[in-house]
Amino acid sequence: MLQLKTKYKTWIRIYKLLIFLVISLIFLSVTILPVNTYVRILSGILAVPFLYITLILSYSIYQFASIGGNYQSKIHDLIVSKVKWDGDGTLLDIGTGSGSLIIKLAKAFPTSVLTGIDYWGGNWEYSKAQCQQNAEIEGVSHQIHFVKASASELPFNENEFDVIVSCLTFHEVKDRSNKTDVIKEALRVLKPGGEFVFLDLFMDEKIFGDEKEQLLNDLKKYGVSELNRSKLDKEMKLPKILLNKKVLGNAVILSGRK
Ligand SMILES: C[S@@+](CC[C@H](N)C(=O)[O-])C[C@H]1O[C@@H](n2cnc3c(N)ncnc32)[C@H](O)[C@@H]1O
Repeated sequence: MLQLKTKYKTWIRIYKLLIFLVISLIFLSVTILPVNTYVRILSGILAVPFLYITLILSYSIYQFASIGGNYQSKIHDLIVSKVKWDGDGTLLDIGTGSGSLIIKLAKAFPTSVLTGIDYWGGNWEYSKAQCQQNAEIEGVSHQIHFVKASASELPFNENEFDVIVSCLTFHEVKDRSNKTDVIKEALRVLKPGGEFVFLDLFMDEKIFGDEKEQLLNDLKKYGVSELNRSKLDKEMKLPKILLNKKVLGNAVILSGRK
């Protein structure tokens, strides 16, 4: 019988890589065409940044994937290790993607009930069906509900969850311009005393504002009573390419309690 395999896919979307690859190839092909020398030189110069991004994206995919450095799975393991919980109660994963993190959490906390939400838009290569299939293959589908919803407006009551995790999702939420509001929404559905572990590009000022002056103070205003902060690259050794600011160079883990 055909054995189904889990599919998690990396955080780098293949269509993005293809766009940069195609543009690089177009510019490169002009350099060998029998056209004006200046046009060929200009095309060669224009090809450089696109080639550079193509290389960064390709190598990042390799480092994130299980056939390469497996860093995506290692980062999820790190988040799981940050959850200090007895597993009694409910957990929410915001922006669950292909279910990789929530499935690890279900295995780590076999008595817990978990919910994974995502809007699974067409611009991502993840789906609810893929999450469900992955959970079934991993033997934890009885523990997890997958719900289609936006992180900007969670379909849950206040104080509903004992634990909330989120990995690289807040900065992606397009239907809320102020990304700190998305974190506020996450904290709304967390029980008082409940635990959170959020990994995101919190050091990117263009997305979250000044982290230390603004973001951390805002979290306290939203009811966070205990707050720990650590830079991802201080928690684990990452390949240099993943430390690029456009990849994980601005990644920080914020954890604590409401
Ligand atoms: C970089 S991926 C991370 C996925 C997953 N957390 C992981 O670590 O594998 C970002 C995720 O955010 C989700 N996302 C983007 N905007 C969202 C929104 N408004 N509401 C919920 N999820 C969203 C995407 O669908 C995608 O799954």
